[in-house]
Amino acid sequence: MRHQHLLPFLGTLAAALATDEQIALQCRESAPQNAEVTEIAFAGSGCPAGYAPGHTLSDPSTLILPKSGFTAETGKNKSYLDARANCQILVKLKYPSGWQFSVSKADYYGRVQVPEGMTGVSKTTYYFTGDSSDISYNNTIEGPYDGSYFRNDRFGEKNSLWSPCGSEAMLNINTEVRLSPIGTDQTAVIGVNTQETVEISWRTCG
Ligand SMILES: *[C@@H]1O[C@H](CO)[C@@H](O)[C@H](O)[C@H]1NC(C)=O
Ligand SMILES: *[C@@H]1O[C@H](CO)[C@@H](O)[C@H](O)[C@H]1NC(C)=O
Repeated sequence: MRHQHLLPFLGTLAAALATDEQIALQCRESAPQNAEVTEIAFAGSGCPAGYAPGHTLSDPSTLILPKSGFTAETGKNKSYLDARANCQILVKLKYPSGWQFSVSKADYYGRVQVPEGMTGVSKTTYYFTGDSSDISYNNTIEGPYDGSYFRNDRFGEKNSLWSPCGSEAMLNINTEVRLSPIGTDQTAVIGVNTQETVEISWRTCG
């Protein structure tokens, strides 16, 4: 009688142990080994000219992109179009099912010169094509100011922006600089420089 009860118990115990072991295995693996960048595209007035696509992930956690730098300007001979510049980078990643990724870390810096009454904004927005949620970080610099700024975008534990589970996703990284008000004769400038590496984080779906 006792043995009859013990056998199903042992079976359940074995199943529980196997599950724990599988979980431990997954935890040790922090990124899929076979993720790859299948496409990189650019759009925007600030994008690097003559960039030939073909970049890949240097490892599953580091995206290598061409560095770029661009500026927005206002002043006597500037059009209102010059008061704003952007470069949107689209990165298509292919990765195994059971995984999803996000950005964890990206850095920007630039110079800004804005007179009293003017504002310079440097901003980067991150989102996945087909998903309406986005995350953005910015520097908003009120004049008068003449100097440097730095921005370290850190997604952290509460990050809610994740790609779909498995297969393929298009990450959009749109960086812009702009000055306001536009159409002024006052001279102002704000630039942004992007770094070569963007760090990617991975997690298992579940
Ligand atoms: C604006 O453009 C005119 C004509 O091209 C030029 O003579 C003048 O020096 C320019 N002014 C500034 C501030 O660049
Ligand atoms: C910049 O970020 C702050 C804090 O998240 C936000 O309140 C503000 O609206 C942002 N400004 C712009 C221009 O996106």
